[in-house]
Amino acid sequence: MQFKSDLVTWSSTYSVGIKVIDEQHKGLFNLVNDMYNHVVNDKTAELAYFKEIIQEAVSYVKVHFATEEKIMTSAKFQGYAEHKKAHDSFILAIVDNIRDYEAGKRLTLASFTHFLKDWILTHIAIMDKQYFEYFRKIATRKANGELSIPSAGIA
Ligand SMILES: [Fe+2]
Ligand SMILES: [Fe+2]
Repeated sequence: MQFKSDLVTWSSTYSVGIKVIDEQHKGLFNLVNDMYNHVVNDKTAELAYFKEIIQEAVSYVKVHFATEEKIMTSAKFQGYAEHKKAHDSFILAIVDNIRDYEAGKRLTLASFTHFLKDWILTHIAIMDKQYFEYFRKIATRKANGELSIPSAGIA
């Protein structure tokens, strides 16, 4: 496999200040980069790779969304309903895209990877930052800079 540089690089600008969420976001970045590094312009090889990893990738995204949703509801975040809607429609869009890609329609591994990347980066920068602003107001900040929100199970 030909070596490529990463498509996305983690930086502190993406941090929402909650360790478990930041770790999961880093995991999503790793997933995007792994997919990107499997774009080899060989349709058969790309599809085989995709079929191998996609279920695990979808599960990872679902676990991440469930983690955020649990924290948002526990912390009584007002924007929860809108945020949950964005998560749900993304899952539906992924499922649609998987079906199209596996049916050989329109998508390539490269475009699938870009679709994931664009959604994830925009969502973190806009929507995840919204709950972060709220959490920052209700949380106490620990010496290491992380937030503590005991009511939401974040010590
Ligand atoms: Fe997120
Ligand atoms: Fe989110």
